[in-house]
Amino acid sequence: MEMRLDKIISDSGSATRSIARNMISAGRVKVNGIVCKKPESKFDPENCEIKVDNEVISYRRNIYVMMYKPIGVLSATEDAVDKTVISLLPEELQKRGLFPVGRLDKDSEGFLLLTDDGAFAHTIMSPKKHVDKVYFITVDGILTQDDVETFSKGITLSDGANCKPAKLELITDTEAFVTLKEGKYHQVKRMIASCGKKVLTLKRISIGPIELDKNLMPGEWRYLSCDEEKLLKNS
Ligand code: URA
Repeated sequence: MEMRLDKIISDSGSATRSIARNMISAGRVKVNGIVCKKPESKFDPENCEIKVDNEVISYRRNIYVMMYKPIGVLSATEDAVDKTVISLLPEELQKRGLFPVGRLDKDSEGFLLLTDDGAFAHTIMSPKKHVDKVYFITVDGILTQDDVETFSKGITLSDGANCKPAKLELITDTEAFVTLKEGKYHQVKRMIASCGKKVLTLKRISIGPIELDKNLMPGEWRYLSCDEEKLLKNS
């Protein structure tokens, strides 16, 4: 499908739309080896080679973002009251229709994936696909080996929802890693509550084979690398 050259460049993540326009007008952009100075010129990004400053850019049909969701921000696309994770992205990306893959509660933090690829989101969240999500938690109360066993058998919550067997790994008696393959509403908090304890803090540290980038600070984001994208899709 043909698209404007400035949009192709901004969709690739190389620059904002207005910077892309300036780069094109300045003669820094080549399409199939020929300088193109018209931002409105249309090309099929999947069937041409586009270079900015002689570096090939790769067009992103879909976008995959790793965000360190901070506490106090909603995992939603819009909200009348609270700040959303989408508002932490630059304007160009906000227009791409990204949405969070699964949710982290407002008072939870950590690894949140955002994408505009619905099929991918479904795969990551489907319990049938067995993509592990790992959370680091601290609790009010003392975690025991009995809790580890309860998690390993699966838990039926007070509303009758059945949680599949999950892994609880104790670090200390108030800190643990929890590994889930599904994502029910408040699942970790409710599973811990059914063991008679309360989650104090919760941070998601990995999704499938991908760990939250240690260089990201709360509120920061980056694109998934092509390798990470492939790993997740094949996980
Ligand atoms: N489980 C929870 O209870 N909350 C989260 O934010 C994520 C998993």
